[in-house]
Amino acid sequence: MKSLVRKNILKVTPYKAGKPIEETKRELGLKEVIKLASNENPLGTSPKALAAIRKAVTGVNRYPDSQGFYLKRKLAEKLSLSPENIVLGNGSDELIDVIIKTFVENDEEVLTADITFLEYEIISRVNGRSVATVPLKDFRFDLPEMKKKITGKTKLVFIANPNNPTGTYVSKKELVGFLKDLPGHVLVVLDEAYDTFIDVPDFPRGTDFLKNNNVLVMRTFSKAYGLAGLRIGYAVGAPVLTSYMECVRQPFNVNLLAQAAAMAALDDDDFLRKTRKMVLEEKQYLSDALRRLKVSYVPSVANFILVDTAQSGVEVFQAMLKEGVIVRDMQQYGLNRYIRVTIGTRRENEKFVKAFKKVLKK
Ligand SMILES: Cc1ncc(COP(=O)(O)O)c(C=O)c1O
Repeated sequence: MKSLVRKNILKVTPYKAGKPIEETKRELGLKEVIKLASNENPLGTSPKALAAIRKAVTGVNRYPDSQGFYLKRKLAEKLSLSPENIVLGNGSDELIDVIIKTFVENDEEVLTADITFLEYEIISRVNGRSVATVPLKDFRFDLPEMKKKITGKTKLVFIANPNNPTGTYVSKKELVGFLKDLPGHVLVVLDEAYDTFIDVPDFPRGTDFLKNNNVLVMRTFSKAYGLAGLRIGYAVGAPVLTSYMECVRQPFNVNLLAQAAAMAALDDDDFLRKTRKMVLEEKQYLSDALRRLKVSYVPSVANFILVDTAQSGVEVFQAMLKEGVIVRDMQQYGLNRYIRVTIGTRRENEKFVKAFKKVLKK
C-alpha cells in the first residue's frame, strides 16, 4: 500500500544505472557487446589486486575488519595524512549517504549543481533533505553563483570535481575563491571520483584544503583502480568530522575482498600508469574522431566524454545498442540531445566510432 511509504520516498526517481553487458546480449541476441556507459576501467583490474582477492577469498567465513586498519594506514601513508582522517565506504555512493546523515539536520539544505552526479540529490531526498541547485555555466560548476545561493539553511555543498557527466573541472583559483570567507555553518564535499585522470596543472587536489575543517574529499576505487564491482571508496577530512561519520556508517560496510583488493591496487603503480596512459591517449583518439565527424562534445579531464548528437540522445543510445555498443543517454540529466561515452580501449573506441557513424547517417 502506497500510503505506508514515507512521503519523500514517493517523490524519488530511482537512479538509472548503465545497462549491463549480459542484459544487452540477452535482450538483443548479440554475441559481442561493449560497455562504454559507467566510466569503468576497460583494462580490467590490477593483477596484484586480483591475486589479493584470490588469496583473501578463503577467509570470507569471517567478518571483515570493521576498522579497515591496514587499508586506512596505507592510504594515510600515501596521502601524508593520519588514519583518523579517513572513513572507508561501500563506494562513494555510501559515503554520500553517510555524509548527509551525519551533517544535515531535518530543516537544512544540500546545495549542488543542476547537472551533476545524480546521487547527491537522490540520497538527499531519500533522507528527507531538500536540495537547491544552481545551473552549470558552459557545462561547468558556477561557484560564484553557488556562493550567492548559500543561505542560513545551507549545510552541505557537493562539488563533483571533475563533474560527471560533463567532464569539466573547477580550477584552484575558483575553489580558493569559493572557500574564502565561506560561512562557518557550511561543509563542502569535493567528490574526486576521477582524480587519477587529471592532466591539467590548475586542478585543485582536495586534500590540500583539509586544514579548513569545513572540507571533505571523496575518492573511489571504482574507476582507475578497476574495482567497481567490489564497491569501495573513501572520504578524507578533519578527525572532528570523520569521527562522527564513523558513528553513522554500518560496522561492516566494506567487505573483506574489497579491503584486500584495494590494499594491493594501491601498490600497483604499473597498472595505474597504464590505465592513465590509455585513457589520455584514447581520449585524444575519440576527440579527433568526433571532430572529423563534425560532432561537438565537451572537452573532458575525466575518462568519459559528453557528446552532442544533435538529435534524440535516447534514440542514438537505442540504435547504438543494436550495434552492440552501450553508451549512456542523458535524459535523466535533462540533456536530451546528449550521450556520455566512457573512454574504452582502442578496439572498443573503433567499434564505437564505426557504430556512431552508421547511427548518425540514419
Ligand atoms: C562523481 C561521482 N561520484 C561518485 C561516484 C560513485 O562511485 P562509487 O562507485 O565509488 O560509488 C561516481 C560514479 O559514477 C561518480 O561519477
